[in-house]
This record gives sequence, structure tokens and C-alpha cells, in this order.
Amino acid sequence: MNDKIIDGKEISSQIKSEIKSATEILKSEKGITPGLAFILAGEDPASKVYVRNKGRACSELGFYSVTESLPENVSEIELLKLIDKFNRDDKIHGILVQLPLPSHINERKIIEAIDHKKDVDGFHPLNTGKMMTGEKCFLPCTPYGITELLKRKNIRTDGMNTVVIGRSNIVGKPVANLLLRKEFNSTVTVCHSRTKDIKEVCLTADIIIAAIGKAQFVKKDFIKEGCVIIDVGINRTEDSNAKTGYRMTGDVDFEDCFEKCGMITPVPGGVGPMTIAMLMKNTFDSAKGVIYER
Ligand code: GUN
Repeated sequence: MNDKIIDGKEISSQIKSEIKSATEILKSEKGITPGLAFILAGEDPASKVYVRNKGRACSELGFYSVTESLPENVSEIELLKLIDKFNRDDKIHGILVQLPLPSHINERKIIEAIDHKKDVDGFHPLNTGKMMTGEKCFLPCTPYGITELLKRKNIRTDGMNTVVIGRSNIVGKPVANLLLRKEFNSTVTVCHSRTKDIKEVCLTADIIIAAIGKAQFVKKDFIKEGCVIIDVGINRTEDSNAKTGYRMTGDVDFEDCFEKCGMITPVPGGVGPMTIAMLMKNTFDSAKGVIYER
């Protein structure tokens, strides 16, 4: 692959293979098999694909996993009961409730019901709070995957200007927070829908992290020469040449930016596979008792 392209597929395979070897040791020395429970409510096709892919990664790595698929009209009480069951199950070290949940369910209430010691998504307020202050905790998988990509590609963050586009709780806010840590020492700016001139702000960036959910939003006139681009977007874009009638595109216009940028993550095959790899890492660390004592 061209060395400008940050191959998330390859890096995630490397991480998964490291976890697989460590899992064999954990099993043989401690008799512990990492276990992950998935809860999927409703029929969202993208969510189904994500959960299936995460389940596959569990089998690849020798983890135990279980998926509970619930109907769209599942009650909040039923969901809470299921979470309580997994909270008390010693075979389960991680619980993942796939988001978004059906609209009648209070998402915060569900996330807060998960034992924070099994919150491998890193969404529980105890983990997000600890992340803020730099304490040991589960880090949310996509931001964790982004920082791992930057580390493993030796991309300098120290003193660099990083512009994050998007302020979601899952990506924008936590990745901005992580890159502020002494470990990364980035100067971070977060842009969002009310930012006056996103293009002007992006032109100051050594690193751009695009996570706004707008297909091909970032064009070459947004970036300075040599800028590193991390594209978190996954958007369905109509394409009459594709069999399905659509193709997946990121929040960055890849072709337009390719010549001018320093490095760039493709979509698919960039950040996406890293999210799964870091979910596996969090589950392994949970089973081993690296984050919280077991
Ligand atoms: N929906 C989109 N991304 C995620 C994720 O990382 N975790 C969960 N649980 N749901 C999601």
C-alpha cells in the first residue's frame, strides 16, 4: 500500500494478533477466557453488521462471546434486567450495548446501569470522568484506536496543532481530551456546526480528525501541505456504478486531499478496524484485571 495511506486494517491485525497470543497465555496460566456480551436492540442494519463483526473478532481471538438480540419494542426494564444479569456473570468481562438504542429507551440510564468495571466501551460516566483526569480507566474504542494509529505510525503529536471536527461524546470530545494528555501534548481545537469558519481553522492543522458525519466534507482547500488526516466518517454515498447503488465514504474527500496531505486514513480500512481492535484490547485488559482489579 502507498506509504501515505495509514492502513488501519494491517495495524488492527497486528494488535489483534498480539492480543491473541496474550489470551493464550492468560488461559493457560490463569484459566481465564476473556468474555464479552453484546446487547443489540432493534433492527438497525448498520448496528447488526457492527455487532456481527465484533463477534467475529471475539472468535478469532479465542474470546467467549454472547449476543442478545432484542426486538425494537423491548422495554427499558427488560434491558436493565439483562445488563444486571451480565454484571453478575463472572464469565463476562465486558458488556457492550450497541448504540443507537430505540428512541423510547433512555440511553444514559442504560449506560449507567453497566458495571463500570465491565464498561469496555468507556461510555460510563465513571470512566469518562477518569479519562478527563488521566486516571486508569477504559478508554472509548474509536478515540483509543485513533491514538494507537498515531503512535504506531510514529506521527508526531507533541506541540502539533490538532483540529478535531465534531464534538460527539463517542469521538470528538474524548479524542480531543486524549490528545491533550502529556503523552501526546497536542494543541487541540474542536470545531462543530456553529464554528464560524471551519476551513480557516482547519488550515492551521498539522493533524485533522474528521468526525462530523458529513460525506466528503473536508476538501483540499481545508488542508495545509503535509497535514495528517484521520477520517472517522462512515457515510453511505449514492454511486450508480456500485452493485448496491451506494459506496461508503468518509468525512474527507480522499481523492481531492490525497496529493496535498502528508498521510491519510482510507474509508473503509482506516479507523473502523481499529475500533474493533481496541474493544478487544479493553476486554482482554478487563479479564486480566489490568484496568480494575478483579
Ligand atoms: N455505535 C457506534 N459506535 C459505537 C461504539 O463504539 N459502541 C457502541 N456500543 N455503539 C456504537
